Amino acid sequence: MKARELRSAFTTFFEKRGHEVVPSSSLIPHDDTILFTNAGMVPFKNYFLGIENPPYKRATTVQKCVRAGGKHNDLDEVGRTSRHLTFFEMMGNFSFGDYFKEDAIPLAWEFFTKVLQLDPERLWVTVHHTDDEAAQIWEEKVGVPPDRIQRLGEDNWWRMADTGPNGPCSEIFWDKGEKYGPPGGPENPASDERYVEIWNLVFMQYDQQADGEQIPLPKPSIDTGAGLERVLSVIQNVDAVWELDEFQTLLEAAESITGVTKDHENSNLISLQILVDHARSSSFLISDGVIPSNEDRGYVLRRIVRRAVRHAYLLGVEKPVMSDLADAVI
Ligand code: ALA
Repeated sequence: MKARELRSAFTTFFEKRGHEVVPSSSLIPHDDTILFTNAGMVPFKNYFLGIENPPYKRATTVQKCVRAGGKHNDLDEVGRTSRHLTFFEMMGNFSFGDYFKEDAIPLAWEFFTKVLQLDPERLWVTVHHTDDEAAQIWEEKVGVPPDRIQRLGEDNWWRMADTGPNGPCSEIFWDKGEKYGPPGGPENPASDERYVEIWNLVFMQYDQQADGEQIPLPKPSIDTGAGLERVLSVIQNVDAVWELDEFQTLLEAAESITGVTKDHENSNLISLQILVDHARSSSFLISDGVIPSNEDRGYVLRRIVRRAVRHAYLLGVEKPVMSDLADAVI
């Protein structure tokens, strides 16, 4: 299954279950608590808070996201791990005060095991340590064996920013297999390359204030996010997002633009991967209207471009490469 087919399988699944298919919003949020749209729920923040009336009670999107500054920042991980990206697409389904955990959990399971036909034996789940209800739904309604349901702390509480909508969450992980790390499930910190998080289901319940006070939302709601590139790597059975068809094309372009091949040294490969990721994020940011500058999101964009250029230098290339890389992305 290719990226295009996965996007459509996801939104069609939820459309058939009463969700409005909403196009991706801009990477520039209508919100001053974050610099970039960092999750699928951002465009819907006011619906969760009850400030605006949603025109639909359920929605599904494939949202462009950037995580390169502020609360959710993966800039330093990119290129060095198999799965972090500054720009990625997040597939999500949302309920604005409509269904809650007892429906969101089985829906996610059905999509993964019936539509994508992922092997249920290789799926693990985590819940917040206080969330007996979610653990019970996984065990009793879905049938996940209790030894593959783990309880974690802060990792299972999702927040959009320092203030705003938040709540306990439940994450679904894919076990890549023993060659990638020790057993023990996602709670084992030594095996984060083995158990990859592929879907996060957030049970939105609170609006955090600047002084830390948690005000209950008018109605409990659902916000989920599954990274398109991560899910694709599971389906396409590749070790890392960099091996996906879309990234291979970009890596080949980066090799030909820089004249450096990825085969020689691992450091070359990391730099080429960083070039590819940063070309994606900067191209999408600029196309949404962000301009490199000295402040705020423009500054982050400038840092991304500068970091890409530094990696071109590390590869021994001093001629301009970014515009050719942007052409490859486009
Ligand atoms: N908003 C949640 C996340 O980004 C789904 O993980």
